[in-house]
Amino acid sequence: MAGRKVTIPDLVKKKQDGQKITMLTAYDCPTAKVLDEAEIDIVLVGDSLGMVVLGYENTLPVTMDEMLHHTKAVRRGLKRSLLVGDMPFMSYQLGVPEALYNAGRFLKEGGAEAVKLEGAGTRILEITRAMVEIGIPVMGHLGLTPQFVHQMGGYRVQGRNEEAAKLIVDQAQNLEAAGVFALVLEGVPPNLAKVITPQLKIPTLGIGAGPDCDGQVLVSLDLLGMSGAQSPKFVKRYANLREESLKAVRQFKQEVESQQFPTQEYCY
Ligand code: KIV
Repeated sequence: MAGRKVTIPDLVKKKQDGQKITMLTAYDCPTAKVLDEAEIDIVLVGDSLGMVVLGYENTLPVTMDEMLHHTKAVRRGLKRSLLVGDMPFMSYQLGVPEALYNAGRFLKEGGAEAVKLEGAGTRILEITRAMVEIGIPVMGHLGLTPQFVHQMGGYRVQGRNEEAAKLIVDQAQNLEAAGVFALVLEGVPPNLAKVITPQLKIPTLGIGAGPDCDGQVLVSLDLLGMSGAQSPKFVKRYANLREESLKAVRQFKQEVESQQFPTQEYCY
């Protein structure tokens, strides 16, 4: 698949062929260009935008306008990766007409190729079916669903006991039947993801769900070490850009104050 545009059928094929799928978040054009060049399969403009970029306490305040603004920027940086827009809280929960309208905005205005919804209640299943019916691909999201933060009582691992695990298994099957093309499993025990993944034809994408999903997703700023000092256990930091940035900015300050910058070589 090197160099070629990633499509939804490609992702299902990857699952069938036992090839792992990669997904990362992006909120701006330069990051999108890096992910695209690295041939990440799926780029998600997550509503994590609210917490990691906009400084909100949780994802609930994020608006459609904010999501579209960032989705358009990411679109401009991508050639190859599949672009998924995350529908923010209360942009789809009210009912089918508003959900279709807002999902349509992600595709028409934002240039996304699919949207992601959290949960699998009766209403979400109905909305998912309606979107799929009119050609809007939907990615599901189960387990630790951040838009349910108040109901969950914080960001806690879900599906730990038998009853809760059974519910997530049923929800995964219901979402597949409703037509989702992929499913994010967030913050669930590895054993649960291991049970769900082979039951589904669609790929599962794990975040804090162990190694047995069909692919893995992380928030880019977490893996780059740009988010705060503390990150969840499932985050592996592949770089420490926060430290590097701080060092560079401090050096700039010191060199300006001591009149070491700019030297002749930086002058016209
Ligand atoms: O909002 C987000 O970034 C997400 C991913 C972590 C899956 O939903």
